[in-house]
Amino acid sequence: MTFKTLDNLTDIAGKRVLVRVDLNVPVKDGKVTDATRIERVAPTIQELSKKGAKVVLLAHFGRPKGEVVADMSLQQILPAVNDVLGAKVHFAADCIGEPAAAAIAAMANGDILLLENTRFHKGEEKNNPDFTAALAANGDIYVNDAFSAAHRAHSSTEGLAHLLPAYAGRTMQAELEALEKGLGNPARPVVAIVGGAKVSTKIDLLMNLVKKVDALVIGGGMANTFLAARGTDVGKSLCEHDLADTAKQIMIEAATATCAIVLPEDGVVAREFKANAENEVVDVNAIPADAMMLDVGPKTIEAVNAWISRASTLVWNGPLGAFEIAPFDTATVSAAKHAAAETKAGKLVSVAGGGDTVAALNHAGVADDFTYVSTAGGAFLEWMEGKPLPGVDILRQQK
Ligand code: 3PG
Ligand code: MG
Repeated sequence: MTFKTLDNLTDIAGKRVLVRVDLNVPVKDGKVTDATRIERVAPTIQELSKKGAKVVLLAHFGRPKGEVVADMSLQQILPAVNDVLGAKVHFAADCIGEPAAAAIAAMANGDILLLENTRFHKGEEKNNPDFTAALAANGDIYVNDAFSAAHRAHSSTEGLAHLLPAYAGRTMQAELEALEKGLGNPARPVVAIVGGAKVSTKIDLLMNLVKKVDALVIGGGMANTFLAARGTDVGKSLCEHDLADTAKQIMIEAATATCAIVLPEDGVVAREFKANAENEVVDVNAIPADAMMLDVGPKTIEAVNAWISRASTLVWNGPLGAFEIAPFDTATVSAAKHAAAETKAGKLVSVAGGGDTVAALNHAGVADDFTYVSTAGGAFLEWMEGKPLPGVDILRQQK
């Protein structure tokens, strides 16, 4: 890996270290409902604090679009950050200017300070040089530990690395190392599972994957678009008929690259989209006109699990079925459990990420057994698409 890590930061007692973290966590009624992202950045914060640095946290919350929006204050995240770190974290009501400067001046070595939402300033998302300079004025060193925001070229995720010596935090490092194993330089065969509702949001991702992996399993609602493109009647299933040509093109690219496309052979169909709806297993060539496929069937599960057994590397984004409602979580849970078992047995490197995927693996109870589960949504997808991530690229360019 060609980026600097905390290993390169030794003599930092008394130094002001600006640490970009992702605290964009789910909140309900003012309470954090899932602290995973906070837990992920804790090691970096604790390590820097132990080394005597003044640890200044930069983060965004929500999309306030350059306005101060009370609902999107990071102050509401502060108690959860305190809890996870087991330390008192100070807070400043603005990320630049006098409030930030005064709070930093009051810090002792090892102290931790959280600055208010960077997106309260218009300059942040514009990567505005003046705003970046105002942030940089508060630090001697910049550490980026927010892989999940690295697809954004914002002041706090990219701009700062031009102005201050820049390092990858521990989570950024772990994330990049796992992703390298997933698609960068993977052990073959590589199998990708891509699911979710729509092809339209994942065209670039599918086009990139067919060139990189040995088999691509397509599940979820998006599988119907592929089935329909090949002439299968999918009844009332979710299907983007207007994307038939795109789906065909992806299948042609796959054939050229000798990537096997694995589509459902059978499905679990129902007439209503609700938990425990009356359902039956049918061959995909016999989907009733008034029914919709909500999960892949047992034959398909067997085929998917066989691919997982054959694989040395698995990259997973998106559920195979409507896993939020029973019993249409069956295939997703089965494949997740099988991948976890293969990983535990040392036979598989498994990397998963993207919004629903983490929820699906948690639902299957196996998130901890995967090699790596990314907390990133958009950044994970853009990585799977083979797109450059500005926040990562700038770290690699550090001399
Ligand atoms: C996320 O939640 O995916 C990251 O924090 C990035 O947030 P954004 O999509 O609002 O840039
Ligand atoms: Mg997002």
